[in-house]
Amino acid sequence: AYVVTENCIKCKFTDCVDVCPVDCFREGPNFLVIDPDECIDCTLCVAECPAEAIFAEDDLPADQEHFTELNASLAKVWPAIVERKEPLADAEEWNKVKDKLQFLEK
Ligand code: SF4
Ligand code: F3S
Repeated sequence: AYVVTENCIKCKFTDCVDVCPVDCFREGPNFLVIDPDECIDCTLCVAECPAEAIFAEDDLPADQEHFTELNASLAKVWPAIVERKEPLADAEEWNKVKDKLQFLEK
C-alpha cells in the first residue's frame, strides 16, 4: 500500500483525494492517512501531493517507516474523505517544516 508521511501534518492539501480511484483516504483534524486494506497501489496520488508526503510502503525514507503502522491504525477510526477541500490555513508555511509528528491531532 501507499503511505502518507509526516509532511502532510498541518498542511492537508487534499489534492490526493480527488485522484484516488478507490476512495481510500481517511481524514483526521490535521492529517490524512491511506487505508492499506483498500489501496490498490495505482500510484496516482503521489504526484498530486504538493507536500510530497506520499510514498510506496517499500520506498519509505528510513525516518518515516513508523508511518505505515500509523496509517493502518488511524484508518480504522477516521472517516473517509472523498472530495478535495481547502488546505489548512497555514499549509504553505508548514510545508517542509521538520518534526511535525508532535503536532498530530487524533
Ligand atoms: Fe489511492 Fe492509488 Fe494513492 Fe492507493 S496509490 S491511495 S489507490 S491514489
Ligand atoms: Fe496530505 Fe498531500 Fe494529501 S499534504 S492531504 S497527502 S495532498
